[in-house]
Amino acid sequence: MHIKKLIALFILSLSLVNCKEESAQVIQPQIIPLPDAVELMDSFFSIDESTGITYDDNLKVSALFLKDFIENGSPIHLKEGNDIQFKLDESLKPEAYILMVSKEGITIKASTDQGAFYAVQTLRQLMPVGLENDTFSENEIAIQALIVKDEPQFSYRGMHLDVARHMFSIDFIKKYIDALALLKMNTFHWHLTDDQGWRIEIKKYPKLQEVSAYRDETLVGHYSDQPHQFDGNRYGGYYTQEEVKDVVQYAKARFVTVIPEIEMPGHAQAAIAAYPELGCTDEPIEVAKKWGVFEEIYCPNQKTFAFLEDVLDEVLELFPSKYIHIGGDEAPKTRWKNCVHCQGLIKKEGLKDEHHLQSYFITKMEAYLNSKGRQIIGWDEILEGGLAPNATVMSWRGTSGAVEAAKSGHNVVMTPTSHCYFDYYQSENEDEPLAIGGFLPLEKVYGFNPIPEELTTEESKYVLGAQGNIWTEYIPNEKHLEYMAFPRMLALSEVVWSQPEQKNYKNFVSRLENFHQRLDALDINYANHLYEIEGDLISDEGKSYYELKTLTEGKNINYSLDGSEPTINSKVYESKIPITESTTIKAAVFNEEKQLGKTFTQHINYHKAVGAKITINKQPHKAYSGSGAEGLINGISGSDSRYGDKEWLGFWGEDIEITIDFKEPTKINSIETRFYDGNGQWIYTPEHIAIRIIFDNDEVIANKFLPESSGNPNLKKVFWEQSILSNRPIKRVKLLVPNYGIIPEGKQGAGNKAWTFIDEIIVN
Ligand code: ACM
Ligand code: ZN
Repeated sequence: MHIKKLIALFILSLSLVNCKEESAQVIQPQIIPLPDAVELMDSFFSIDESTGITYDDNLKVSALFLKDFIENGSPIHLKEGNDIQFKLDESLKPEAYILMVSKEGITIKASTDQGAFYAVQTLRQLMPVGLENDTFSENEIAIQALIVKDEPQFSYRGMHLDVARHMFSIDFIKKYIDALALLKMNTFHWHLTDDQGWRIEIKKYPKLQEVSAYRDETLVGHYSDQPHQFDGNRYGGYYTQEEVKDVVQYAKARFVTVIPEIEMPGHAQAAIAAYPELGCTDEPIEVAKKWGVFEEIYCPNQKTFAFLEDVLDEVLELFPSKYIHIGGDEAPKTRWKNCVHCQGLIKKEGLKDEHHLQSYFITKMEAYLNSKGRQIIGWDEILEGGLAPNATVMSWRGTSGAVEAAKSGHNVVMTPTSHCYFDYYQSENEDEPLAIGGFLPLEKVYGFNPIPEELTTEESKYVLGAQGNIWTEYIPNEKHLEYMAFPRMLALSEVVWSQPEQKNYKNFVSRLENFHQRLDALDINYANHLYEIEGDLISDEGKSYYELKTLTEGKNINYSLDGSEPTINSKVYESKIPITESTTIKAAVFNEEKQLGKTFTQHINYHKAVGAKITINKQPHKAYSGSGAEGLINGISGSDSRYGDKEWLGFWGEDIEITIDFKEPTKINSIETRFYDGNGQWIYTPEHIAIRIIFDNDEVIANKFLPESSGNPNLKKVFWEQSILSNRPIKRVKLLVPNYGIIPEGKQGAGNKAWTFIDEIIVN
C-alpha cells in the first residue's frame, strides 16, 4: 500500500464519524438514503490512472455518468478495462442494484440502467466530496470495500416545485433535479400554472406569454398582515418550449420523470386574465398579485375545453410522462353557482351540484388524456362529486383522500401537509425566514409513514409513494428555496427509499452531519438545525423536571437558569433539571471551542394547573397531537407563529371538552388561553367558548369566554376572571370549545371543516 494512499485514507476516516473501532481501515459508509443491506470488508479499492471501465450497453447512461463524475471531479481519466464493470443482471427488480467493491475492482449489477444509476449514486457517496466540485487533486480515490444490495420501498419518490408564485432559473431547476438524482428520487412535479403566473410557453395562445406570465406587483410580508401592501414591481416570465424540452431531457438522463401540472378548474386566474371568455363572467381581471384562493375559475364551456385540449396537446409533446397533473384543488364554486351556462349544464347532464360539475370537468379532461395514452393525477379534491375512472389521487389534505381512493382501487401519492409541506417552518427559532405557517421539523418528515394505518396490506399496494411539496409564495429566491428544501428532502428520500424497520433518526442525523460536507461542495444552502436544543417538561411522581436534548453526539449542552446567556463556562447539563417555580432556562450546544447552534430559551410558567389532571373528550388530530393533553397545562406556551409545535394541540372539525381536575381544591383568580387563527391554513378560533367552574361543594357556575385580538394577527386570546373565585376552593374546571364549523365560501378551504388549535391553559 502506498504511503500516500494510507494518508489519504487516514484523513478521510478522520472526517467521517462512526469509524468501527476494531479496524482502523473500515470506514462506515454514510449513505443517504440508507441502503437495504451493506456488508463491509477490511480493504479498499483505489481508482487511479490505470483503472479501466467496461459496461453492458444497456447500462451505458449510468456508466458514463460515473466516468464523467470521476473525470470532471478529479485529475483521473478512466481507460477501457475491467476494473469497474457494469453488468446486466435480469434477476434484479427494475430499480434495484448490487454494488460490490473489493481490492480488485468494482462491479455494479442491475437489470436496468436506472438501477445501475442508483448504484452509481451510492458509489458517489463513498468518494471524497471534493469530486463534487472539482477540488479533489489527488491521483487516487480510495473506496471502502463493501457489498451493497439495495432497492426502493416505493416506486414514486417525488419532489414538487411551484414556479408560479416565484420563478426559478433553468440552471436552478437542473440543480434541483441533480439533487433528486443524488437522493435516488425519480419524479419532479413541476407546478407550472397558477393564479399568479403562467410559466410554460403555449404557442397557440400568445397572450399566455404576454399577459398571464406577468403580474403587476406582489404582496409584501405575510398574507395575514393587514392592510395588504404591495411592492410595485412587475414580476414574471415563462419557460420557452426549448427550455422545457431541455429540462425534460436533463431529468431523463438522471432517471427523473418530469410531471407537468396544468391547474384546472381553479387556480386559473392568470389564464383567465388573458382570455376572459374562459371564465364564467367574461369580465376583465388581472393576474393575481397576492396569495390565496380565487373565485375566478374556468367555466366548463366549449371554449374552455377547446383551450385546455390545445394546451394539453402542446404539453404532451413536451412531456413524455405517463402522468399529467391536472390540479383540481381549491376551486371555489361561487362563479359556477351564478353562471347561466354552468347551471344549464348541471341540469342538462343531470348532475347533483357544483361538485359533480367539477367531477364532470375532470372526467372529461381525463377522457381526453386517456385517449392520448396518458393518465391523470390530481389533488384530492378530485374525489368530491365522484372520482374520474382512472385517476391517481395526490392526497394533501391529510390522508383521508388517500384512504378513500385506495379503498376504491385508485392509486395514490402521499403529500399530506402535516409531513410533506416544505414551505412550513422547520425550526422554532423566531429568526427563521418568513414562512406560510405550520411547523414541519426534520424529525417529523423523517418519521412519516406513507401508508395510512386505515389501509389493509392489500389496499396499501395502491400507495405509490410520497412527495415533498414546495409552494413558493414566501420563497422568493433560490438560496431561500434550498434552505426550505434541505435537509427535509434528504429525510423524505429515506422515507420513500429505505425499509421502515431500518430507519433510525439518530443514525440519520449522524449521516446528515457528515452529508453537510457534500451539500457544501454542491453549493446547496441547506438549513442546519442539528445543533439546536429540544426541551421537554416531564412529570415524575408528582414532581416536574426539565429535560434538554440535542441531536448530535459528542457535544455539551451548557445552560443557565437566571436568564443569562449560556457560555462555554456555564453549567454543563448532565441530568434533568428539577422545576419548582417559574424559571427561564437558556441553553446552547458547545464543542470544546465554541457555541455551535443558536441559544435555546424556554420560559416555564409554574401556574396553578401545572401537575393537575387533564382530560379531553376527543383525541387531537394525530398529526398535531403535540405533547398530548398534558401539554396544555405543562407551564409552557406554544410558539407565536408555529401552530404545529408540540405545545399546540390541533383538532379537525371537532367540538372539544377539556376537564382539569386539581390535585386538591385550589383557589384561583383567572384562566386564560390562546387560539391560533390562521384562516389561510383553515384554522379558525371558535366563536363561543363556555366555561364551567365546579367548586369543592359541587356547586357549578357557568360563564363564557369571548375571544379577543392579541395584537398578533394569528393569535386570539381568551381571558376570564371573576372576583367571587379567589376565596372559594375549586375542584374542577371544564372548557367547552365548539369547532368553528364549515369554512365559508370565498375563504381558503371553503366547504371543508375548520381546524381548532389551542395553547396552554394558564390558571392563576
Ligand atoms: C394545495 O396545497 N393546494 C394542493
Ligand atoms: Zn360558468
